[in-house]
Amino acid sequence: MAAVIIDGKKIGAEIRGELAEKVRRLKAKGITPGLAVILVGDDPASTVYVRNKERGCQEIGVYSEIHRRPANISQGELLSLIGKLNVDRNIHGILVQLPLPKGLDEELVMKRIRPEKDVDGFHPVNAGKLLAGQDTLLPCTPHGCMVLLERSGVPIAGAEAVVLGRSNIVGKPAALLLMQRNATVTICHSKTANLAEITRRADIIVAAVGRPGTLTGDMIKEGVAVIDVGINRVGDRLVGDVDFESVAPKAGWITPVPGGVGPMTITMLLANTVQAAGDTMEETTPAAACGQPRAAR
Ligand code: GUN
Repeated sequence: MAAVIIDGKKIGAEIRGELAEKVRRLKAKGITPGLAVILVGDDPASTVYVRNKERGCQEIGVYSEIHRRPANISQGELLSLIGKLNVDRNIHGILVQLPLPKGLDEELVMKRIRPEKDVDGFHPVNAGKLLAGQDTLLPCTPHGCMVLLERSGVPIAGAEAVVLGRSNIVGKPAALLLMQRNATVTICHSKTANLAEITRRADIIVAAVGRPGTLTGDMIKEGVAVIDVGINRVGDRLVGDVDFESVAPKAGWITPVPGGVGPMTITMLLANTVQAAGDTMEETTPAAACGQPRAAR
């Protein structure tokens, strides 16, 4: 039987509907979630991504402001802008669009964002909390992958999950999130020997290497759930890391590119912004003030 095509556009729209309701409730309590996006330079792809983030905010009622700065901004000026946003009470989430132009230290810049406002989930404090299994803002793309699996009814507990790619942004956090859901996880990368032997065991595969054709039909078993994080331009087409034509007929579930993981990334960014705004309220509740632990989410 052909695979179920996981519709990221539809699932993303459902979640944004739920978030819009949460935003209405927060506004009724006097909090309008706010996102600040910093765009340095004029990279065309980044400009489009930032515009889409702004549209996403408008759709669910989140306040957004875009700070556009020239590519020759100094590191000091950029850090000082982040410093201001860190203490701005109307801003609950800060996102610095990557990649930054040459000459700016991405690691230093990302570390300047207050972890509570780090809606990308890239700050080392948040990465550490994820590793330790603590409640935190999760990186948007791997979180989106988990939501796609969960909302599609893919069994995760006890499943053999294989993650292709070991990036800090997708591969490593995806592996941690799958492990938290009690999957048995293997991370593969460019030096992995006998890749196909490993992928053939998998019940779930998350492909995030940035290379088209990394996973082909002969490398999978029947019924596997395949989440394709890749976005690669081949000629005038966008393709993932997975060879859809050969994998889809054997898989149980598969995400298309485009229309799979892509729409989830912005949705989870919005979810993080709403969560960060809600957390500021919890900080000022009497229970939080007394140092009582907050309820598990
Ligand atoms: N550039 C491309 N994707 C992303 C993302 O998820 N976050 C940030 N900050 N920059 C990006």
